[in-house]
Amino acid sequence: MYLHCDPTASHYLKTLLDAIFGFQSFTNEIIWKRTSSKSDHSQGAKRFPRVHDTILFFRKTPASTFQPVFTPLSDDYVDAKYPHVDADGRRYGLWDMTGPGGAAKGNPYYEVMDVSRFWRYSRDRMERMVAEGRVVQNRPGSVPREKRYLDDSSGVAIGDVWTDIHPINSQARERLGYPTQKPLSLLERLILAASNEGDVVLDPFCGCGTTVHAAEKLARKWVGIDVTHHAITVIEERIAEEFPNLKIEVEGRPRDVVAAHDLARRDKYQFQWWANWLFGVQQYRERKKGTDKGIDGEIFFLNGPRGVGRVITSVKGGGTIGVQAVRDLRAVIEREKAEMGVLVSLGHPTSPMRVEAASAGFVQTAHGSFPRIQLAPVSELFSGIKPRLPMAAPLDQLRPPKPAKAKRGVDDHQLQFVYSFQGGKQLGEAGEVVHIDPRQRVSRM
Ligand SMILES: C[S@@+](CC[C@H](N)C(=O)[O-])C[C@H]1O[C@@H](n2cnc3c(N)ncnc32)[C@H](O)[C@@H]1O
Repeated sequence: MYLHCDPTASHYLKTLLDAIFGFQSFTNEIIWKRTSSKSDHSQGAKRFPRVHDTILFFRKTPASTFQPVFTPLSDDYVDAKYPHVDADGRRYGLWDMTGPGGAAKGNPYYEVMDVSRFWRYSRDRMERMVAEGRVVQNRPGSVPREKRYLDDSSGVAIGDVWTDIHPINSQARERLGYPTQKPLSLLERLILAASNEGDVVLDPFCGCGTTVHAAEKLARKWVGIDVTHHAITVIEERIAEEFPNLKIEVEGRPRDVVAAHDLARRDKYQFQWWANWLFGVQQYRERKKGTDKGIDGEIFFLNGPRGVGRVITSVKGGGTIGVQAVRDLRAVIEREKAEMGVLVSLGHPTSPMRVEAASAGFVQTAHGSFPRIQLAPVSELFSGIKPRLPMAAPLDQLRPPKPAKAKRGVDDHQLQFVYSFQGGKQLGEAGEVVHIDPRQRVSRM
């Protein structure tokens, strides 16, 4: 079991783990240098830069799986330790075989090549090594040494201070924008050391899923748990991208109205998040403190000459819901100068609510005309009835929406093309005129 935390809590957590699992189970405190000192240095700071995190490693029994992890030898090390070359071209070094600590450490005392010492190997093993030509005496009387070939070396066993795994930089492909995302190579190292292929890896706080990604990559089975629906959707996207053929099962997401009621009762904010996710809301409010100004989620769309259009969602997880909720959403849309709104509710909308929503009328957009306010009870979302909305535009291609100002000369009926394209004619290889299908040369917006 690994537990990762920063030094403000690691010492408390270590005593807790000792109390729960027994201090005998404590195996290592791994220091991971997770950042450079430069990035934690502010002018005038009266402390050393904080550059490491702690990973506490516990195991159930000494027999638990453990494979040492090796890094390649440095050139300097190879030059210093393997300076000789055999007749057959193999590079080797000579290593001390005497037993440190002598008899007190249980080392046997005997004679090898006329030299008597305490040795680190048993007499039998030493005889085998001599027979294999793995013991070298430079001249008569000198202390024999062990011959080790460079190509037999696995590298340097990594200790408990890790300075070679760097944080994910802001441009890295693996970056998902999850605040606590750790580098994949860190999780790979941890998993490789303490499990075998086919073993099960559990991350009960799996966040954006770096552990499950590493486990899948290393052919382990895995289970990830997270309390937020956001984390689970991030993982689904990550797995779909990295392992397109892998089918995963998500447990705990409401699959019917009863389960949706249960989620709303247990966690209002997770209910909001999940209900928004059901119909593709792009920006979620997951704030627990402060006022949300009546906005629980937003969808953006390209709105032709009017710029960027905005749909505001309001999610009601309470059992009873009335016409005031529709009036409130209408007021928010007007205040925000948004194009339209969707009221998602756990309960079924009442007739006055439907009348109030209908009285908000229609809005003309570059994608056609849409009801200004739509009601979306969760039961309808489950049966596949979703609000009718303009196609959402990818967030990374939008500038922050400006409040829609009535522009002079805007043609309300001008359409927003979903794809941008260039028209015109093109000459083929034989000089013939080729018709260009705009969909073949689109750049997606
Ligand atoms: C630091 S992140 C996890 C990082 C992840 N283990 C990794 O190695 O990349 C912590 C996660 O724990 C989740 N979490 C917090 N409390 C939880 C709980 N009681 N049960 C399950 N997940 C929880 C949070 O939603 C968050 O995504």
